Amino acid sequence: MKTIRTIAELRRQVSEWRGQGMRIGFVPTMGNLHAGHFALVELARQHSDRVVASIFVNPTQFGPNEDYARYPRTPDSDIAGLADKNCDALLLPSVDEMYPFGTVGCVQMHVPGITDVLDGAHRPGHFNGVAQVVARLFNMVQPDAAVFGRKDYQQLQVIRYMATEMSFPVQIIPAPTLREFDGLAMSSRNQYLQGDERQTATFIYQTLCFMRDQRALGLPIAMIEAEAEQRLTMAGFSVDYAEIRRSDLLRAKSPDERGLLALIAARLGRTRLIDNLEFDAG
Ligand code: PAJ
Repeated sequence: MKTIRTIAELRRQVSEWRGQGMRIGFVPTMGNLHAGHFALVELARQHSDRVVASIFVNPTQFGPNEDYARYPRTPDSDIAGLADKNCDALLLPSVDEMYPFGTVGCVQMHVPGITDVLDGAHRPGHFNGVAQVVARLFNMVQPDAAVFGRKDYQQLQVIRYMATEMSFPVQIIPAPTLREFDGLAMSSRNQYLQGDERQTATFIYQTLCFMRDQRALGLPIAMIEAEAEQRLTMAGFSVDYAEIRRSDLLRAKSPDERGLLALIAARLGRTRLIDNLEFDAG
């Protein structure tokens, strides 16, 4: 696997592969890679001849009181893991390479509508930063296909919207959420969990399943949401949201729709966790 730090070098490599008629798959990450990330690399491989991954802890998607400084950075084990998965190239840009005019002088992005709800409402500016960095990465790598996890369901929808609306010639491929043996969605932030918090964290997935099952019994959505929030609060979480929405995340909740999903964001001590469960996924 080639480790590439500059845009110029990346362009040279990608155009060489393109010249040979190869299809390029791309997996953007912030590093501290786990099995969920590696599964994205494997999925990208199924859709392309060469796989490029990136690791960049993007400062513009973190709020002023969020965990940018302490976000886990583990480049050596990440590089070893990606090489083991036969990733072909890893882009590891510096902040200066990504934002040559600085994070204040950079061109801003805003995806309207979908970023007003859920995590968009609770993390102001977060999805602007995500759209901004993913658009840059798409320009740098110019992939044919890019893989994003359903774990960050709203992020996936924001990127789909942006790619369609801005005519990026890239196929967005969603990947299923990988979970620990007890249901907890794999996440780089799980390692912030202290002592009993790791056990308590499994309650998020249990609550998502509860919401799905209550819905299947035909209970009213508002009642299920209130009950879910109350259960999480009793278990020690500080809840940002516990909601049932249509899969586009925007349109009004309508009881007899298919394509519903439950989404939870909740804080346990210093750790903010998000997860979701699609009801019709089986
Ligand atoms: P990061 O949190 O590192 O996640 C990188 C990719 O891995 C995302 O597409 C995310 O949805 C996926 N992922 C994380 N945990 C997963 C799991 N348990 N199962 C399946 N997929 C999982 O998301 C970001 O980075 C950033 O916002 C980024 C898109 C790279 C832009 O900076």
